[in-house]
Parts: sequence; C-alpha cells; structure tokens
Amino acid sequence: MQPTTLTRRRMMFLGATSGLGLATLGRWPAHAAAPWPTHRGDEQSERFIGEMLHVGDPLADAVVAELVLLGSGGKKLLQSGIAQGLKSLADPPPALAAFLRANETIPPWVTPSTYTGGSRTFMSIPLPAHALTLALGALTHTYSSPAIAAVLIGTGELIKSTQRRLLETTDWLLRCMQPGALRVGGSGYVATLQVRMLHAQARARTLANGWDVAAFGTPISQVDLVRTWLDFLPVSYGCLSRLGYDLTSAEISDLYRTWWYIAHLLGIDPRLYRRITDHTTARQLLTVVDATNQPPDANSRALVTESVRATSGLFSLATVLPPISTETINATFRHINGDPIADLYAIRRTPAQALIPPTALATRNARTLARAIPLTWNTQIKFHESLTETFLNLLPTSAYASGGYAHK
Ligand code: HEM
Repeated sequence: MQPTTLTRRRMMFLGATSGLGLATLGRWPAHAAAPWPTHRGDEQSERFIGEMLHVGDPLADAVVAELVLLGSGGKKLLQSGIAQGLKSLADPPPALAAFLRANETIPPWVTPSTYTGGSRTFMSIPLPAHALTLALGALTHTYSSPAIAAVLIGTGELIKSTQRRLLETTDWLLRCMQPGALRVGGSGYVATLQVRMLHAQARARTLANGWDVAAFGTPISQVDLVRTWLDFLPVSYGCLSRLGYDLTSAEISDLYRTWWYIAHLLGIDPRLYRRITDHTTARQLLTVVDATNQPPDANSRALVTESVRATSGLFSLATVLPPISTETINATFRHINGDPIADLYAIRRTPAQALIPPTALATRNARTLARAIPLTWNTQIKFHESLTETFLNLLPTSAYASGGYAHK
C-alpha cells in the first residue's frame, strides 16, 4: 500500500511512539528495518487495518443512495423491511433487498446460545453498574478517538446530542441484551439495523459536508466501528471488573459469541471480529486499532465532559436507577479509568474514591458466593432482566427508532 496522508496522520502517533509495526504502512525510516514484533500481529493484518480505514458499510451505504432516489416512500419501505422482513415487501428495491437478505441470512456459526448466552452474562450484573460503565468507561474511550469525536461533534448541538446519545445508546444496548431479542425481527435486531442505517446516513451526510477523507479515512469506517464494538467488550467489562463484577471464562466466551452476531448486524467485516473470542484477543485488536488514532483532542474532551455531566441525568430519569451524586460519578470515573485519564478530562479528585476498592471487593465476594448456588444466581439474572424491561418501558422512544437521521 502506498503511504497516504491518512496513514501518516492517523498512524503517526503509533509509528512515532510505540513501534508496533505500522511503520511499513507509512514507510517510517526509523522502523523500516526493524523485525516485526512477534506478539503484535503481523504486517499483513496491519495492512488490512489500513485498508479498513477506507471502508464504510457497502450494503447499508447502497441503501442510503437508493433512498435518495426513492424519495419519501423509501424510508417507509426501509422501516417495514427491517421490522417485518424482506417477505413483507411486495417489490423491494435492489439495494434494500440485498441489505435485508444479508441480515436475515443466519451465519453458520450462530447457535441457539448466541441469542441467550451473552444476555445471561450481561444480566448477571445490575443495571446501575452497566449504566455507569457505559457512560463513564466505554463512551470515554469511544470519544477519545479524534476521528470519531469529529463526526459526532458535527452531528448536532453538543450538550443536547451528548445527553441524547447516552440515553439512546443505553436503550439500544439494553434492547440487544434482552434474552432472544437479537433473533430476526426481535427488538434488538430491529434496533441494531436501525442504528446501522443511522450510521450509513450520518456517513453520507458527513462526506457531503466536506469530511477530510485524506486525513481521517472514511467517516464511521470499519476500524471505527470495530473500535466502538470493543468499547462494549474489553473496555466495558474491564471497567466492570474494577468494580468487582468479574466473569468466568465460560461467561466471557458466551458474551463474545453474542457480540459476534451484533457485529454482523452492525455491518462489521467478519475478518475483524471472528477471531476475537475473549478479552485477551480483544485487547490485542484494540491495541492495533487504537494505534490508528492520535491522542484525544478538544472535541474528545468536550464529549467526555458532557457525557460525565449527562450521567446523573440518566440516573434521575427512571425510578429503576438510584439517584447518584457527582462525588460518586467522579470517584467511579477515576477508579475505572485511572488518574492519568481522569486528569486529562479534569475530573475532580474526591475522598469518595477510597470507598470503591472495599465495595468492589465485597461485590466480587458476593458474586462468587451467588454463582456457587444456581438458584440464587438464576434468581439474580431474572431480577435484572425484569428491571431492564421496566427501565426500557420508562425511557422515551428513541429517535433512532424513527429510522431517520433526525438530529442536526
Ligand atoms: C459498535 C459500534 C457502534 C454502536 C453500537 C453504535 C451505537 C449507536 C446508537 C445506539 C446510536 C443511536 C443513538 C444516537 O443517536 O446517538 C448511534 C448513532 C450514531 N452513531 Fe453510532 N455506534 C457505533 C459506532 C459508531 C462510530 C464508530 C461512529 C463514528 C463517529 C458513530 C457515529 C454515530 C452517529 C453520527 C450517530 C447519529 C447521531 C449522533 O449520535 O450524533 N457510531 N450509534
């Protein structure tokens, strides 16, 4: 591959600092002769990552192009095709038919436990812990990418859209994690395809607004998508583990198999996720993917600041979640992200931080005990499932469910 402005700018951080081997892509003289680090993937896989920075979501992008030609009726066709299936459309336009066919075709690696295993793992952890780690851990990592932050900052008024994003991402995640909801036509399936189309619309709009492809690659590229997918896995569950919510290796394995299917529905290239089976392999991929980003910029800082502020709003929204103080939010942020990241985002230090390690230890011990008694463990899972359902019913209808790129 020829060196481009893109590979230079997005990969400069890595090439200049860590010597992971992306030198080959940008032909960095200092590294060109160095042997490839044996535990850091191979040149071929990194060339692949370079190529994926230029790929969006061909199937969904074609639907967006088709919708422009179809006019106002197109959106209705899309919505009913997603919710009721390809069969429900009398004369589907070709790109929409191809999109729906691909999603309704079940990959050979899907088994019945794909629809329930990850859900059980997720539901073994209480909702407030998920809400906190999503808002303060996963999204903080998502926003730390200047390439992702730039797209998001361009999509609407910062404060309003950050609050909405937190709420709607929580909504989407909980829908996907309900048992069986990812089956074709289920609420997680429908929500994920709606989000995928929202991405394709945002990609088209961002490109039309003069996005600098040479500097950042395709907006919402395959690399950005898989990076965000990883935010829901090793990043989120790493944060949860720091709060005492550990998983067994069987639970982790179930989780990844369910998330393969989510990746499939989100339009992520299987070559990016099929070999990711646990947190170790996920972190290896994350290291390579993160290497394509420069450090967090002003957009990242603005998004993280607003997301932290929006956390208390999320907790005050529904009676299912307990009210949460700013002290607790700041202490949790520091604990799960560490002081260097907390300092970067100017999160205040608080004495409340000292309470988190003993609480995490108590949580860890309680989980070990509960897991040893199947009846207790299953009752806990059922209880979390019913709380999640109540919470979802209390949330306002998500804008993404309207099937349009409504936010500007
Ligand atoms: C696993 C990958 C991802 C998931 C699960 C995901 C999830 C979501 C969800 C639930 C929404 C609807 C809520 C909302 O409107 O914010 C959304 C919208 C959106 N997402 Fe993603 N996302 C992913 C990756 C990305 C990436 C990499 C980008 C790149 C910038 C991105 C950009 C957007 C944009 C622009 C919108 C539309 C409106 C907005 O929030 O400003 N997403 N996404």
